[in-house]
Amino acid sequence: MSFDLILFGGTGDLVWRKLMPALFQAFRHGSLPAGGRIVGVARDDLSDAQYRALIKSRFDEVELAKRPSEEEFARFADLLFYLRMDLSSPADYPQLAAKLQERTADTVVMYLATAPGLFTTFCEQVAAAGLNGPQMRVVLEKPLGHDLESNRSINASVRRIFSERQIFRIDHYLGKPSVQNLFALRFGNVLFEPLWRRETIANIQITIAEELGIEKRGAFYDSTGALRDMVQNHALQLLCAIGMEPPINAHADAIRDEKLKVLRSLKPWTPETLRQHVVRGQYGAGTIDGLPAGAYRQEKGVSEGSHTETFVALRTEIANWRWAGVPFYIRTGKRLAGRSAYIEVNFRPAPHAIFKSPLGAANRLVIHLQPKDGLELHLLAQGQDNRQNRQQTSQTLAPVQLDLDFDKRFGAERVGAYERLLLDVIDGRLNLFVRSDEQEEAWRWVEPILESWKNDSEGPRPYAAGTWGPSASSAMIARDGYCWTEEC
Ligand code: BG6
Repeated sequence: MSFDLILFGGTGDLVWRKLMPALFQAFRHGSLPAGGRIVGVARDDLSDAQYRALIKSRFDEVELAKRPSEEEFARFADLLFYLRMDLSSPADYPQLAAKLQERTADTVVMYLATAPGLFTTFCEQVAAAGLNGPQMRVVLEKPLGHDLESNRSINASVRRIFSERQIFRIDHYLGKPSVQNLFALRFGNVLFEPLWRRETIANIQITIAEELGIEKRGAFYDSTGALRDMVQNHALQLLCAIGMEPPINAHADAIRDEKLKVLRSLKPWTPETLRQHVVRGQYGAGTIDGLPAGAYRQEKGVSEGSHTETFVALRTEIANWRWAGVPFYIRTGKRLAGRSAYIEVNFRPAPHAIFKSPLGAANRLVIHLQPKDGLELHLLAQGQDNRQNRQQTSQTLAPVQLDLDFDKRFGAERVGAYERLLLDVIDGRLNLFVRSDEQEEAWRWVEPILESWKNDSEGPRPYAAGTWGPSASSAMIARDGYCWTEEC
């Protein structure tokens, strides 16, 4: 099957940091279909050879094991081409058409790794140039829009010229092997399903913590913030994967229908829950790995008195029979005390205690997403058989854990998120992509939070870089009698 993969924003961050390394891995693994062209599109004046040289130089910043040798890059470079084009200029679209007409590829993927502001013009011009035939697929990066209204308007423009089957809204968290394993854990095993409900689960915590700051994306981030950048998409997709009902099969729409139901069941916000169950923070100066780290407001591209949040913690509930009353906590932030993403499922204690357990001990399942990719099951066991313990009427249990490391088990067979998702787009598999109604529902749910912040002149709570966020985040969860992992 021949394909043309057109990367708009071809010299941008996403392309050289994520997409090119992923494509190279697919090439190295032999999974990229033969007969493909990868065309970088940007406004710079470059020849194919200059573009290849640019991409080659960028590989120096990729982790060593994923860098091509000279010989490998030379073979990979044969797939790379460049097209100079300004997406905002209608006069440039015939060049795109000419590039595609150089040959007739079975599949053409247009990957928009550009500012969403260009999507509407892009759609209109692609339609005018007759480039929206059935072999076309379009990939849209997040955040798609700024709020519900802009999201709807982008979706409407894209749907006017492409069918839903041709639209791939990317959320790279869905491509992570650990997230796919979450589906496997829940729907490929019988063990957990009977326990996966309010009767046995006390609360669920989703943490996506980053040590990194905003890097060179100051201007973008300052007008976006953590709620739009991480919660509206990645964190809510994880919440769906944890909370959804078993789909009737593994087809894209069966999965997306169930995720949509979760989003529709999220408890609506009230003025009181907005006040008590949402915490926003912004990092100030601090220390990361023993080195001084500057404050958010000092970052390049960030406005002086910025109120943009770099941290969010919130509590919600899924209002249905399975989950009624079970708190779901989400927290995410930049410049936190470590880089780790995990979901913690905290079970209720045994209903009748015949043993003594350490205070607060109960079963816990931790699904590690990164950097570790695995599962930990925390149990209680009879450890000490000393005289003192034997003589007590109620013996004391000790915490133990079962530890499963998927990287060790599957090693080199594991495929990175972007590699998996790019191959899925080329093959036309939509399972791991987000449907427009899911996306709109997620925007609808975060909008009251954005509104309430607009009217709150106090702004985000400060936290020092290198900590776990503002203390209000711990207070929020403590009000329910629970704690974040590192505090328990
Ligand atoms: C992106 C966000 O979607 O996800 C970034 O825009 C964030 O701000 C990144 O750093 C995190 O992805 P990962 O895969 O490194 O956890």
